[in-house]
Amino acid sequence: MKFLVLCFIMIFFIYAPNNSIAQYDYLKMVEQWPPVTCLNLPCVRNPKNFSLHGLWPSHLSGRSPMNCPPLGGFQITSVQTLFPRINNSWPEIKKGEEERFWREEWDKHGTCSQSKFPVFDYFKLALDIKDRVNILQALIDHNVQPSSTITYDYALVSKALELKTGKAPELRCIQPNGQGPVYLHEVGICLDRDGINFQDCLQTQRQKDRVVKLCDNNKFYLKPL
Ligand SMILES: *[C@@H]1O[C@H](CO)[C@@H](O)[C@H](O)[C@H]1NC(C)=O
Ligand SMILES: *[C@@H]1O[C@H](CO)[C@@H](O)[C@H](O)[C@H]1NC(C)=O
Repeated sequence: MKFLVLCFIMIFFIYAPNNSIAQYDYLKMVEQWPPVTCLNLPCVRNPKNFSLHGLWPSHLSGRSPMNCPPLGGFQITSVQTLFPRINNSWPEIKKGEEERFWREEWDKHGTCSQSKFPVFDYFKLALDIKDRVNILQALIDHNVQPSSTITYDYALVSKALELKTGKAPELRCIQPNGQGPVYLHEVGICLDRDGINFQDCLQTQRQKDRVVKLCDNNKFYLKPL
């Protein structure tokens, strides 16, 4: 009997964290730089600004949660009152497939913070965070200008954003075809679980994550618009 009880307790602790929702440590809002998303393909939308990629519930160690069991599916009507704001700040630039993009982001990431932020709240939070930090302006203010000749490094670009949020961002780069110039592609801004206070993005990502390492190990371009 004692053994059985022990087994149940162990099974509970092994499986409970996966079954329960909202198991995440912090939030990461990620914005993309459209000229780099569209490097190798024509895009139908070309915003002259950083635009939202997503809001990702993240773990301090180990893989971040994804595709959590949904309590409710994404409906375009849930974000109707966020128009036109959401469509301007969170466009799907390659094909103009906003609805698919938002649904994918909700299914993959939003579901993992749904107990705190149901569909509408999740999308509104992402937009509110974006508007708290004007990433492009922060870079320009620190003399990080879009340019096809000047390269930048992690410390300088990170500093530009730290001056605005007080916390270290995450820089994500790409190198088309695995060789040649490295481009800044995305910027992550991290916040606490409630999405209120900025916090440093995880330093370990710089050693772990391929796209973050690319920024960390190379001089990179901020491609002109
Ligand atoms: C978003 O705006 C674009 C450009 O104005 C428009 O073509 C598109 O239909 C809009 N998307 C939605 C889902 O309304
Ligand atoms: C770019 O996005 C930021 C953050 O959302 C916003 O404050 C700014 O007004 C936008 N700039 C332009 C030119 O639309």
